[in-house]
Amino acid sequence: MGAFLYVPCLIHPPLPTKRMGRKQQAPVQEVRLMKKRILSGMRPTGKLHLGNLHGALSNWIALQDHGDYDCFYFVADWHALTSDYAGTSEIRANAIDMVIDWLSAGLDPIKSTFFIQSTIKEHAELFVLLSMITPLAWLERNPTYKEMKEELIQKDLSTFGFLGYPVLQAADIIMYKAYGVPVGVDQLPHVELTREIARRFNFLYADIFPIPEPLLAEVPKLLGIDGRKMSKSYDNAIFMSDRGDDLKKKVVAMFTDPQRQRKSDPGRPELCNVYKFHGLYSAPETVAEIAPACRSAAIGCIECKQRLAAAIAEGMQTIHQRRDHFLSHPEEIRAIIEDGNVRAGQIAKATLAEVREAMKISHEL
Ligand code: TRP
Ligand code: SF4
Repeated sequence: MGAFLYVPCLIHPPLPTKRMGRKQQAPVQEVRLMKKRILSGMRPTGKLHLGNLHGALSNWIALQDHGDYDCFYFVADWHALTSDYAGTSEIRANAIDMVIDWLSAGLDPIKSTFFIQSTIKEHAELFVLLSMITPLAWLERNPTYKEMKEELIQKDLSTFGFLGYPVLQAADIIMYKAYGVPVGVDQLPHVELTREIARRFNFLYADIFPIPEPLLAEVPKLLGIDGRKMSKSYDNAIFMSDRGDDLKKKVVAMFTDPQRQRKSDPGRPELCNVYKFHGLYSAPETVAEIAPACRSAAIGCIECKQRLAAAIAEGMQTIHQRRDHFLSHPEEIRAIIEDGNVRAGQIAKATLAEVREAMKISHEL
């Protein structure tokens, strides 16, 4: 049972089996109006892994369950196009699968709103309008832009869309007048740019937009099975959907303390990625027992990893059950996203009406 307390995503009520009727939803909507709005998004580039779960998703869930926030989480499929424009065949399936990962992790459609960026056309309109007031120099000096362009040399990222990525992101965020944007450190420059764009809009036209705060959470630094940062592109990730023998094989292949070559060598748990995972998935007694056993070479890495594999399998059980549920009920996923699209669309429409008025670009006669 110890594992329960250590995986924040599991502290969550069981799946809503029946979707709530309109009548039950009304009070939730009213309460929502008084809460601070949170917005974040992810590009649908494939399956989410344990790094995503203990990083972004656990933060999203904590904000959702905090009680003071109205959370909007969306699939940034237009953003996925900025780098994957030449291979779009999987974007749609990835979008649905990503929402399944979100819901399996414990995000809850009764508490939060989930939507798909490309269904809310106002994002494109606000992007155009913001692009008019965004100085090129702000985009060209963006460190994420420079880094990604250098890293992804196999893709031609010298496109207008890729340069404009943060402008679209600014549109996503200020559309919902978000108070807070939960992101990882890599996204801080984008949120900073959003703040500058919002200030510029407010200065030039009308004070419409609150200046959003980036919300950084402390996240455990989890490495992939090869000891590098866990990432889909490094092919070293343990996916949220991995289970059974696949999961076991990955855990057994994990990189440990590099100085521990033989079982008789004493290990250094504080430098071992397997130990870090024990901290998240194993009972506190187990974690306390493993550290000295590793240091005195009383436990071997194989046994240590087998225990970890079992702990992860147990800790992920609820998530896997939810995943199975949604895989066999695609109509529920569709309804959840449709509901979210409607809710997000209402806000987006209201914001755009204000923006057009402020910029004198509406012609409703
Ligand atoms: N750029 C973000 C990422 O790659 C995704 C994103 C798009 C986003 N729009 C956003 C995140 C708005 C937060 C808010 O992770
Ligand atoms: Fe890591 Fe466990 Fe091996 Fe120690 S015994 S080095 S904690 S895998």
